[in-house]
Amino acid sequence: MKTAIVTGASRGIGRAIAERLMRDGFRVIATGRDEVLLASLNTPSIALDLRDPTSAQALIEFALLKTGRIDVVVNNAGATKRGLFLELSEGDWLDGYSLKLFGAVRVARAAWPHLKAARGSIVNIAGVGGRTPGAEFSIGGSVNAALLSFTKSLAEQGVVDGVQVNAINPGAIRTDRLRKRLAAIDEDAFVKSQLITRVGEPEEVAALVAFLVSSEGRYMHGSLIDIDGGATKTM
Ligand SMILES: NC(=O)c1ccc[n+]([C@@H]2O[C@H](COP(=O)([O-])OP(=O)(O)OC[C@H]3O[C@@H](n4cnc5c(N)ncnc54)[C@H](OP(=O)(O)O)[C@@H]3O)[C@@H](O)[C@H]2O)c1
Repeated sequence: MKTAIVTGASRGIGRAIAERLMRDGFRVIATGRDEVLLASLNTPSIALDLRDPTSAQALIEFALLKTGRIDVVVNNAGATKRGLFLELSEGDWLDGYSLKLFGAVRVARAAWPHLKAARGSIVNIAGVGGRTPGAEFSIGGSVNAALLSFTKSLAEQGVVDGVQVNAINPGAIRTDRLRKRLAAIDEDAFVKSQLITRVGEPEEVAALVAFLVSSEGRYMHGSLIDIDGGATKTM
């Protein structure tokens, strides 16, 4: 049985990815901070704050203890604060980067030898803001751009080491993050304002992850894939 680690698996997109990979026959190692939500997944889980520099190594050791191998890593955890630049603090910036960029970097570094041994895969969940920045998303946009660049770097090493590396850019996906935004604006008006087909569902991102890490998706490598209802207008 193959092992897949999913970060940010307690809720939202990460939870849908964990559930989908479990259905597809992976032994999923789930992580996030909310122990109760993690336990409700019925799979081995470890509650960690991934902003802590020691958490990535603890996560990999936990996975190895439980299953002895690592085939897939999905770096999904992220919680960058929105807001106008002058309203964002030093702490907001450090938090955003500590979790989403450095969390992914550290998990990838700790997992790499095991992924190399298993000829495994990494999927980084970035976001459309990485290609299309905006005034209210300076942390998320820049952190996602960094994650996309990191994906390309790692993919080149992955050619040498036999590790598949890709990134996915979700657009507006119906999770708690988006629900908070939609509380202030009607969904139809939001869809119209964004010039998108509709709001996406976490399961649609999970299906894309499932394809990438399946044997059919193996030739996808170093790809930065938008799944956004047409939100990204540039090439
Ligand atoms: N939803 C969208 O429209 C959208 C669009 C573009 C990109 N994305 C990206 O997709 C990813 C998932 O987004 P989502 O909407 O599913 O978010 P979400 O519902 O808020 O879930 C975020 C996940 O990250 C975990 N997390 C947050 N802070 C953490 C920390 N310090 N340490 C460890 N885990 C932490 C949360 O777990 P706990 O709460 O248990 O800590 C949760 O499982 C994020 O990287 C986000 O930037 C989302």
